[in-house]
Amino acid sequence: MSAVVDDVVCRLMRPGEEAELTALLAAAFGHPRFAPAVTRLAAMPNAAIHVLEAEGALRAAAAVVDYGPVAYLGIVGTDPAMQGRGFGRRVCEAALAPVRAGCPVLLDATISGAPVYEKLGFGDVDQSVVLEARGPIPAPPVPGVAALTAADLPAVAAYDAGVFGADRAGALAALFRERPEGVVCRRDGRVVGYGLRQDDRIGPVLAETQAVAAALMAALSPAGPEAPAAITVPSANTAMLDHLREQGVQELRRLRHMRRGGDRHPGDRSRMGAIANFHLG
Ligand SMILES: CC(C)(COP(=O)(O)OP(=O)(O)OC[C@H]1O[C@@H](n2cnc3c(N)ncnc32)[C@H](O)[C@@H]1OP(=O)(O)O)[C@@H](O)C(=O)NCCC(=O)NCCS
Repeated sequence: MSAVVDDVVCRLMRPGEEAELTALLAAAFGHPRFAPAVTRLAAMPNAAIHVLEAEGALRAAAAVVDYGPVAYLGIVGTDPAMQGRGFGRRVCEAALAPVRAGCPVLLDATISGAPVYEKLGFGDVDQSVVLEARGPIPAPPVPGVAALTAADLPAVAAYDAGVFGADRAGALAALFRERPEGVVCRRDGRVVGYGLRQDDRIGPVLAETQAVAAALMAALSPAGPEAPAAITVPSANTAMLDHLREQGVQELRRLRHMRRGGDRHPGDRSRMGAIANFHLG
């Protein structure tokens, strides 16, 4: 049986705790790449990072990004030495408490996370398929594709809102500031797709048709011997999954895309060629 720990408190992360949180998440997930996500979330006015403190240290964390009509739960992790004591569940409950009743909350669950979310009332929507591009992902060019500039962001955010189901303008602007590399496709002046590149991944990529999505993905794919780029594709988008497999992009794993609250999923996952990541949706 686990030892009882009774000096447990759940609270918002304080300024200055970013490095401790990053180390906690690195230990929980077994890889060290959380610093950009923690910095990004800490700076977003509509994001809140909750931490669980016990025995004088951070032991668990969970973040909610609240987009208004939908919220996303991410970066959920518990210190490996302290798992199985209810910390993950408690910090998730604290993170979810401020979300307005009835608001759909979405997440992408790992194998260890899924039982926690099931107990919190989340149910399966589809899967989020994680693949890894190690080189170019060629596709036939389509007309209307151009490099994305800061001036495109309002039109891109408006297009994104129609597919994602909520206004993510702040999140998209943050990603673009971190790496101002993206592509947009316009037809008759109207945005019909866009994509962004992050240091370790391609996404979001959203488009009206698979032909446009594939062309955007090609433009964002690694040109040469760069570090591999992760791509997370909703299982609802079979056209993109077939395309990536045909181009030799390997599938690494699948997460369970889950929802709690609301009477339907707010987004159109079949038009998402790649999600942004597991905390921005
Ligand atoms: C997922 C994670 C945060 C869970 O943290 P935790 O503190 O061990 O979870 P808890 O102890 O709060 O467990 C919550 C509930 O889920 C249940 N549960 C946890 N792991 C389980 C498992 N492998 N199988 C079945 N049930 C499980 C617990 O019994 C508990 O139920 P209860 O509240 O009715 O007793 C932790 O395993 C972790 O950090 N994993 C690695 C990172 C990761 O994958 N995070 C999730 C990203 S989606």
